[in-house]
Amino acid sequence: MNLVVIGAQWGDEGKGKIVDYLAGESDAVVRFSGGANAGHTIVAGGERFALHLIPSGILYKDKVVILGSCMVIDPKALFEEIAMLESKGVSVSGRVFISDRAHIVLPQYIKTDKEQDAKRKLPIGTTGRGIGITFSKKSERSGVRIADLDWNEMLEELTEEDRVFLLSYKNRLRDMAVNITSYLSRKKNARILFEGAQGALLDLDCGTYPYVSSGISSAAGASAGGGLGPRALDKVLGVFKAYSTRVGAGPFPTEFKENQESEDSLCSYIRETGREYGVTTGRPRRCGYLDLVALRHACRANSIDSLVMTHLDVYDELPEIKACVSYDINGETTEDFPASIPALNAAQANLKTFPGWKKDISGASSFENLPREAKDYIKFIEEYCETPVGVISIGPDRKQTFLREKIWS
Ligand code: GDP
Ligand code: IMO
Ligand code: MG
Repeated sequence: MNLVVIGAQWGDEGKGKIVDYLAGESDAVVRFSGGANAGHTIVAGGERFALHLIPSGILYKDKVVILGSCMVIDPKALFEEIAMLESKGVSVSGRVFISDRAHIVLPQYIKTDKEQDAKRKLPIGTTGRGIGITFSKKSERSGVRIADLDWNEMLEELTEEDRVFLLSYKNRLRDMAVNITSYLSRKKNARILFEGAQGALLDLDCGTYPYVSSGISSAAGASAGGGLGPRALDKVLGVFKAYSTRVGAGPFPTEFKENQESEDSLCSYIRETGREYGVTTGRPRRCGYLDLVALRHACRANSIDSLVMTHLDVYDELPEIKACVSYDINGETTEDFPASIPALNAAQANLKTFPGWKKDISGASSFENLPREAKDYIKFIEEYCETPVGVISIGPDRKQTFLREKIWS
C-alpha cells in the first residue's frame, strides 16, 4: 500500500511528526518534493530532531529512506545532516538513497536566490536555500542531476568552482544513487510512505503564486517525485494545524492583525505556545485563525482522503476559538479560494466562533477522551471540508498522536 502525506496549508503543519509516527508501520519513506528549505521536526524518546532533506522515517533503524526525483539537493546540507544524525546515534549507513533524477543545488544558486529575492519589488521571503534557482535551471534544462555526475562533457560546461564542488561529493552521492522507479517497482506488497514538503498553498500551481515555493508540494508531486504513477497511490493524508501559520511574504486572509489588541495578544499566545518559529530560518511565523476556505480548496485540489489535525492542544487555555468560513471580497461573499493576489489581499475573513474547552488535552489518547467542545470543533471542520479527520496530534511528541481510522488498509 502506498500512502501520501502532504501539508494542507502553507507548510510547517507537523508533517515530519506525522510521517515519523506513521513510518513505524511502513517499509520505506520517500520524500518527494522540496529541498533544504523544509524543516521537519520529530520529537521522540525525549530528543528533538530537525530534518531538512532526509525523510522522516530515518529514526527507525530498519527503515529505508529515499530522496525523490523532484527534490533539489544541496550536497553540503545533506552531508551535514547525515553527520548531525550520526552524532546523535542514528546510523544511516546503507539506508539513505537518492533518486538519480534528483537535481543538485550548486553554491552559486544559493547566492543568486538571496540576491534575487532582495532585489525584487515584491520579495517572496525565500529561505535562501537556492530552491527557485535550481528549479528554474531544471526547467531551462541547464540543471545538474545526480545521474549527470558521470557525464564528463556536461560537467565541462560548468564553471571551475561548480565542477570542483560537485567532484568533492561525487563518490558519496554516487554510492547513494538509485533508480527509484525500478527500486520501488520491485518492492511488491510493501508499505511505502510518500512524504511531502511545504504545503498545498505553497505549491507552484495550487498555491498563492508567486508567493509559493518552486516545487510540486501537492499530492501530484508524490507520483512525479516518487517514481511511480498516480494509480500507485492509494491514499492521501493532508496535515493541517488547528490554526494557520505562514513564513515569508504573501496573502494570508485570516492573519491576526497587529493593530487589533485582542488579535495581537492571541498571536503572541499562539506563537509562544505553539513554538511558531521557522525550523530552517528561525523566523517568527505569521499566525492566524484556521482558514476553512483555504483548507477545503487544498482537500479538493489534492484528493485528500483524510485530514490529520495537529496543534489542537495549543487551544487548551482559550475561552473561544474562531475559524474562517467565507471571505468578503469587494462586496461579494465567497467560499471559493481565489487565485488572484489582489483578491486574497482584499479578502475579509468571516469567522465562526466555537466555545473553547479550557482543559489540558495533551494526554488524550482517543477522540472519545476529548472534551465535547473539541469534538464539536473537529466535527464542524469535517463537515465543512467534506473530509474526515482521521488522525489527531495533541503535542509535539511521537506519542501524543491518535488514530480515528485504520491508516494502512
Ligand atoms: P513540518 O515542516 O510540517 O514538519 O512542521 P515543523 O516541524 O516545521 O513545525 C511543526 C512544529 O510543531 C514543530 O515544532 C513540532 O515539534 C510541533 N508540533 C507538531 N505537532 C504538534 C502538536 O500537535 N502540538 C504541538 N504543540 N506542537 C506540535
Ligand atoms: P516545510 O516542509 C514553511 C516558504 C518560504 C517562502 C516561500 C519560498 O518545513 O513545511 P523557497 O526558499 O522555497 O523558495 O521559499 O516558501 N517555504 C516554507 N514555509 N515551511 C516550509 O517547508 C517551507 N519551504 C518554503 O518561507 O515564503
Ligand atoms: Mg517545517
